[in-house]
Amino acid sequence: MNLAELNKVALAMVAPGKGILAADESSGTIKKRFDGINVESTEESRRDYREMLLRSSEAMTKSISGVILYDETIWQNARDGTPLVKIIEQSGATPGIKVDEGTQALPNCPGELVTVGLDKLAERLKKYYDRGARFAKWRAVINIDKDKIPSMTAIHVNAHALGRYAALCQVAEIVPIVEPEVLMDGDHDIDRCYEVSQRVLNKTFQELRIQRVALEGMVLKPNMVVPGKKSTKQASVEEVAEKTIRLLKNCVPAAVPGIAFLSGGQSDEDATAHLDAMNRIGGLPWRLTFSYGRALQAAPLRAWSGKAENVAAGQRAFTHRARMNSLATKGEWKADLEKKAA
Ligand code: 13P
Repeated sequence: MNLAELNKVALAMVAPGKGILAADESSGTIKKRFDGINVESTEESRRDYREMLLRSSEAMTKSISGVILYDETIWQNARDGTPLVKIIEQSGATPGIKVDEGTQALPNCPGELVTVGLDKLAERLKKYYDRGARFAKWRAVINIDKDKIPSMTAIHVNAHALGRYAALCQVAEIVPIVEPEVLMDGDHDIDRCYEVSQRVLNKTFQELRIQRVALEGMVLKPNMVVPGKKSTKQASVEEVAEKTIRLLKNCVPAAVPGIAFLSGGQSDEDATAHLDAMNRIGGLPWRLTFSYGRALQAAPLRAWSGKAENVAAGQRAFTHRARMNSLATKGEWKADLEKKAA
């Protein structure tokens, strides 16, 4: 393992003013997104949509440090034959790849999931490296429900798999994004999210240590500490920022170069406001940025709606969200910048 090189890539992924575009929706998930705008999901329409994002040169050069791709996309070429990976590299961003193979029901734990995909992962990583991927992503999903969910079992097996994946990535000279996502579905309050996220992060870092993962050569992708979507007690931006920072300070070693949050179903503007408020707190040992899927793509997806004549509008919408989040990485975002653009 070349730790200096892994550390360099990890730091570039969280460079000030930049963050990660998560464009790694599985074929099932992108179909759901396309259903929402009445567009048929075909290999070509998926390519056209992602090409539109990757050719948004202002966003890509100024605000995006890396792009997480799905297996299909990493092998695809743009309409003019240029590999999509090359378009990312030409913009100065780093290509990355989702390597987990989704979730399965966890035996003996009704309502809980385990992420799969470790079999043959070493071979797959080699192929992705040769294609240009310099980082990868693996998402573990933890549900919150009444009393017994999450179980210790679900937290343990998912953390163990994250450790296995991260160690394999580093041997392959690929920076692992370690993503233990506590879902915001449900009616739990913000303190329950804090408590569960703390258990999950502690177990995850324990497994990373046991499996000898070099913390300087990874990026953490956590959820923010937020109430469940159906909670009757919603939280202010300041409370989310303060509790998320408190959690991270308690659980994430300073050797980790950066933390890139998922948006997890927050509104576009909430995801930006929360990141901004955390960066205003300052004095942190790690860089804090975004690795958003929905909060970067909902607006461009709507503006594009599958029509070639809307490509420029889609790119404008993407560029705007990327710029807002870029400002938030520096604690320089203001709500009225959103209104001016509307
Ligand atoms: P969201 O920002 O839509 O949660 O997606 C990020 C991601 O990569 C989830 O794995």
